[in-house]
Amino acid sequence: MSDKEKSTETKREGFSTTLGVLAATLGSAVGLGNIWKFPSLTGQNGGAAFVFVYLICVLLIGLPVMISEFIIGRRAGANNVGAFKKLEPSPTKPWYMTGVVGVAAAFLIMFFYTDVAGWVYSYAFKSLTGGFSQVGATETADVFAKYVGSVAGPLVWQWIVLATISVIIIAGVTKGIERMTKTLLPILLVLLLICDIRALTLPGAFAGVEYLFRPDFTKITAGVVLAALGLAFFKLSVGMGTMTTYGSYIGKKENMPANAVKVALSDTLVSILAGLAVFPAVFAFGFQPDAGPSLLFITIPAVFKTMPFGQLFLTMFFVLASIAATGAMISLLEVPVAYLTEEKRWSRMTATLVSAGTMGVIGSLATLSTSTLSDTLVFGKTFFDLFDFASSNIALPVGGILICLFVGWKLGPKVIMDEASNAGALNNVVFLKVFTVLVRYVAPLAILAVLLNGLGIITF
Ligand code: PFF
Repeated sequence: MSDKEKSTETKREGFSTTLGVLAATLGSAVGLGNIWKFPSLTGQNGGAAFVFVYLICVLLIGLPVMISEFIIGRRAGANNVGAFKKLEPSPTKPWYMTGVVGVAAAFLIMFFYTDVAGWVYSYAFKSLTGGFSQVGATETADVFAKYVGSVAGPLVWQWIVLATISVIIIAGVTKGIERMTKTLLPILLVLLLICDIRALTLPGAFAGVEYLFRPDFTKITAGVVLAALGLAFFKLSVGMGTMTTYGSYIGKKENMPANAVKVALSDTLVSILAGLAVFPAVFAFGFQPDAGPSLLFITIPAVFKTMPFGQLFLTMFFVLASIAATGAMISLLEVPVAYLTEEKRWSRMTATLVSAGTMGVIGSLATLSTSTLSDTLVFGKTFFDLFDFASSNIALPVGGILICLFVGWKLGPKVIMDEASNAGALNNVVFLKVFTVLVRYVAPLAILAVLLNGLGIITF
């Protein structure tokens, strides 16, 4: 190995253990998507039928895209743009634009994600400082409406969120975060289970379980399928290069396909558990399941308010939700930072501050969408909804198609076999054959069809 290679090796931090790989990738996947987006989208799109379509999207599309990103990242050992440049150096074949679209998508997501993370942080703070002690179970809707309808509070919290993740990224304490996630994810799971038990034992809870598990297939429309696909991308953190970036930190001996399967399954389980905590309570308290993004912030406090030590559990829940959100946001911020430091040679500090600053300035448009800018619509949507829709339902699927085509056709079956079986060391030939068919044909065609259909460009 040359000196130059050695110095890049030492500069690039990698995940040290198999558990570390799982914790980091699952830490990116598990976030507000599970406890906030999954229940609210399920509620808005008709319940179980949406969950059914979502599961198909995860298995047939999300999982293959995740494995593809791991393959690109680990094979190249570089950031999201550099990886494509390394694997396709020809300037006449601009595959690296896939990486550029991914970096743009990371910004789009962060514009609204930091807003919702701000709500979660503020709820954690409020419950920590006893601010919820006087709030009754039926008053949580008013409390939330008042909070998001104000201007200063949500903006300040969004900047606190950005400052927090910037400090972590600048310090480069990925290992600290990894270790923290490893300890805290199980605690989040335990708390979710407690919440589930409480919600499921409320009188009238069963209506919520039925809503989540008994599908009414007449509710499936083109828009519902597009929303489920968008959620699958968002949930698994794929379609934009987070898993490519993380893939570049995965050791050559790790079993990447197995890790991807574990992440997809565990992440889906967390979403279902979140749904089981929310919907039974929604029905028990007579809330509307289609309340949208506000669902979590109204029902979860209401549920906790009805149980012994509720204040304590409420605090713990939102603290842990803050941590889950932070783990996901760090992986999002890492995408532009890795790109700017490796490709543009910016310092980590400058790259982080410029990226986070941009996220804060444009992201404030999303934050003000629930107050002063609530009537300002672009393409019929508030800024918040526009950033959300454009990232999950357009940028990530488009990125997903390009990633599938790159791995399935440009790299091709031989490279897939070699990279994803660790040069034949893993016994997963059949799995990889199925994966190859999915990534070459099924996933890109399905994504394209859903995308064009969902956007109304073609109708079936
Ligand atoms: N998967 C995260 C969640 O569900 O909250 C969100 C996310 C993180 C999306 C990282 C995309 C990403 F690259």
